[in-house]
Amino acid sequence: MHHHGAMCPDPLEQPGLRLRLGTEHRRISSQHRQLDTLYASVTAAVERQSLPEARSAFLRFRDAWDAHTGLEDTFYFPALHGLRPDLVTPLVTFCDEHARFRDVLTEVEHAFEREELAVAATMLESLISNIAEHERREEELARDLGLEGKKGLPP
Ligand SMILES: [Fe+2]
Ligand SMILES: [Fe+2]
Repeated sequence: MHHHGAMCPDPLEQPGLRLRLGTEHRRISSQHRQLDTLYASVTAAVERQSLPEARSAFLRFRDAWDAHTGLEDTFYFPALHGLRPDLVTPLVTFCDEHARFRDVLTEVEHAFEREELAVAATMLESLISNIAEHERREEELARDLGLEGKKGLPP
């Protein structure tokens, strides 16, 4: 005998997807903090006027940033979109911003290759404040979706 009603979960609520996204949000959020730490070592090397240290700290930051945004673009954002198709506009905006920031990071890398520490540092300063603002909006979106803390658990 076939029953419909209260026993059947609403497929649109996707509690499994919400749970996975809560886990994924914690990973994303901890990567945001790791990026802050990696960037702090770039700043410290710039303050010491050490070009080789600033350059290698920058490359570590850049690699971690590439891995982080790769995860967001290929997994986290598509999963968020699966949960909330109405969020397509902000999610596409985040992805477009990644592409813009990636171009600037390449310019910074070239400045390091030309051994122009001051140029690289100036470009990084404004890039980093844009990246920080971007990450804040990502965290805000996750908070609005209830992916943080206890609210991230399925009902
Ligand atoms: Fe991002
Ligand atoms: Fe991010």
